[in-house]
Amino acid sequence: MTGMDRKQKRVFVKTYGCQMNVYDSERMMDALGSSGYSAVASPEAAELILLNTCHIREKAAEKVYSEIGRLRRLKHDAAASGRQVLIGVTGCVAQAEGQEIMRRAPEVDLVVGPQSYQRLPDVVARAAGGARVVETEFAVRDKFAALDRPIAAREKRYSAFLTVQEGCDKFCSFCVVPYTRGAEVSRSAAAIIAEARRLAGDGVREVTLLGQNVNAWRGETPSGRGLGLGDLLFSLAEIPGIDRLRYTTSHPRDMDDVLIAAHRDIDAVMPYLHLPVQSGSDRVLAAMNRRHSRADYLALIDRIREARPDIALAGDFIVGFPGEEEADFADTLSIVDAVGYASAFSFKYSPRPGTPAADRPQVDGADAADRLSRLQERLGKAQADFNSSRIGMTADVLFERWGRHPGQIVGRSPWLSPVQVFAPESLIGSISSVVITGCGSNSLFGCLPVDLDGDAPVLEATA
Ligand code: SAH
Ligand code: SF4
Ligand code: F3S
Repeated sequence: MTGMDRKQKRVFVKTYGCQMNVYDSERMMDALGSSGYSAVASPEAAELILLNTCHIREKAAEKVYSEIGRLRRLKHDAAASGRQVLIGVTGCVAQAEGQEIMRRAPEVDLVVGPQSYQRLPDVVARAAGGARVVETEFAVRDKFAALDRPIAAREKRYSAFLTVQEGCDKFCSFCVVPYTRGAEVSRSAAAIIAEARRLAGDGVREVTLLGQNVNAWRGETPSGRGLGLGDLLFSLAEIPGIDRLRYTTSHPRDMDDVLIAAHRDIDAVMPYLHLPVQSGSDRVLAAMNRRHSRADYLALIDRIREARPDIALAGDFIVGFPGEEEADFADTLSIVDAVGYASAFSFKYSPRPGTPAADRPQVDGADAADRLSRLQERLGKAQADFNSSRIGMTADVLFERWGRHPGQIVGRSPWLSPVQVFAPESLIGSISSVVITGCGSNSLFGCLPVDLDGDAPVLEATA
């Protein structure tokens, strides 16, 4: 190992789950960068392999153990040639099953929960010395302070995540997040604004604020006046270079008037809102402890649409929740029709150990699977309707990278849908006006309104 110490060490991070994990993985790499690790793109090339895991559904959690199984050989082969490879588990499975991971998977050297990442460099050093370390204390404030460092120079990009809030106090009866991420904690407005300025300085034009329950963000002014996410958006929109703001994911109970007004009054706040409803049935919503009714949700959607008529709405749904009957499911289908979602995620209920709904009588698996496929068909149709309603519109697209076919570049519309356009690479990083000419199931297709010499209009772009 002595030769190793003098060489640059390499870390490979595999990320599962939500965008918060994507953000955390980057911060972990930044933190490890300070202790001499550089990031690599394959586990074979690394001396440290981190699996940043998700516990939201059983399948997500089980993936971790099968991945560890695959890495076992790699670790042993490396050891046979005198090279130490450390395997670490971070994220929500680490938090929920810390000791159990160590028991089930002897090749795991370290387990670090999402609230302890500031300790990662130290934990890695101890593991390199031969200890097996489990670190799952809750100390969110330490985490934000310690990881709030200048962002390392990395690949140029125009859209970035910024965590503003972590944890959840809602305790929906199906969900592990309040247990794995802990109570709601907000970062200070000053720290968030400073990070957004740094991102803008790095050329980032679009910032997506992240939180498990992002619209529960709370802050205060230096004089002690309380602030909500809407106020934060008003401040962030003032930062030169930040042209687009998004936030995700929101709870219906925390959509207040200022936040709705932000959609009406701030050009930079994009017309897109991910506002999960989970079910259209009041009986099921109550059993889920969602703390809102179907009517509350629909009234809220009306207020949001009044403020921003072109907003694209996204949702999350769970089918087969304990006690859900066919009539409840019919209410879910009808709320899909009533809202007109631009996109949605839908899941079969997965009982999670330690959550209240896990112990209730379960819906038959085949019924749940059947409902899921019927719901997905309905959601697919809603998405197709939304996408085709965009054809003929002109929309600003922030071009981010090469597209699917040679000569194509791709960016996001204000409604978050990817837009594929035949256009010069030089437009990557710019926001350009695009005429939407067609759509596929997930993407839109478009063309620039005039060619680059400014004379003949581009008549057609094909997929
Ligand atoms: N904080 C967000 C989302 C949390 S998890 C919110 O409240 O909206 C993302 C989605 O996973 C949830 O919206 C829900 O639809 C789904 N989900 C959570 N727990 C689940 C479970 N036990 N089984 C199936 N889906 C689940
Ligand atoms: Fe989970 Fe509900 Fe909190 Fe969302 S609001 S993270 S679904 S407990
Ligand atoms: Fe999964 Fe944890 Fe995110 S459970 S969805 S990684 S908050």
